[in-house]
Amino acid sequence: MDANVSEITRRKWDKAAANFDLMAGNGPEKRWAPFKQEFFSAMDGKVLFLAVGTGLDIPFFPENRDIVGIDISPKMLEKARPRAEAYRGNFEMRVCDVHDLDYPDGHFDKVFTSCTFCSVPDPVRGLESLRRVLRPSGELHMFEHTGSRYFPFSLMMNLMTPLAKKFGPEMNRPTVDNVKRAGFEVDVVRHVYLDVVKTIHAHSPAAG
Ligand SMILES: C[S@@+](CC[C@H](N)C(=O)[O-])C[C@H]1O[C@@H](n2cnc3c(N)ncnc32)[C@H](O)[C@@H]1O
Repeated sequence: MDANVSEITRRKWDKAAANFDLMAGNGPEKRWAPFKQEFFSAMDGKVLFLAVGTGLDIPFFPENRDIVGIDISPKMLEKARPRAEAYRGNFEMRVCDVHDLDYPDGHFDKVFTSCTFCSVPDPVRGLESLRRVLRPSGELHMFEHTGSRYFPFSLMMNLMTPLAKKFGPEMNRPTVDNVKRAGFEVDVVRHVYLDVVKTIHAHSPAAG
């Protein structure tokens, strides 16, 4: 990724870190808790988790897993540290830009993302990068909010995005299409709230 874009992204999220938990109601959104618990229960093998943020998702991780959590923002990871230290299992945190992952090809068995691809500057490139570090047939599991196909939500999100993206996420991304464009095969898309909050389950194609 262009070093300038990475720097702008890092600065934006470093700035958001101070008030992120407050904005999120000082804890993970309670209404998503049962979905998140179920979603993360599929973690096993060597897992890459993008993006840690302040670590609000960590209490939902199943115990005794082997997880690497990355985020572009050192300040977000600083906030996440107490939650990471409380995790009962192997959880390593690293500052890393998803566009420029330095892991070898096929290093991970599974990748999990949570409310991330609303924020990554070049989502298709970011997803291609995740596909590279996943083993053939490795799984991608995403908990994301995306744009909506339905009026008036589609209009509201298009109107909100120019302002929202100055401070944080873009509200109107076509994330399921982006996953396909990045070369994944989509298995299941489950709607958690309208067609906005959803889980996307996909896999990397088998080795040819
Ligand atoms: C909306 S927050 C979500 C944080 C956390 N997953 C949660 O749900 O509480 C988006 C996160 O994506 C991270 N992020 C944005 N662009 C990134 C990139 N290119 N590489 C790695 N992390 C990135 C930000 O630093 C931020 O922590």
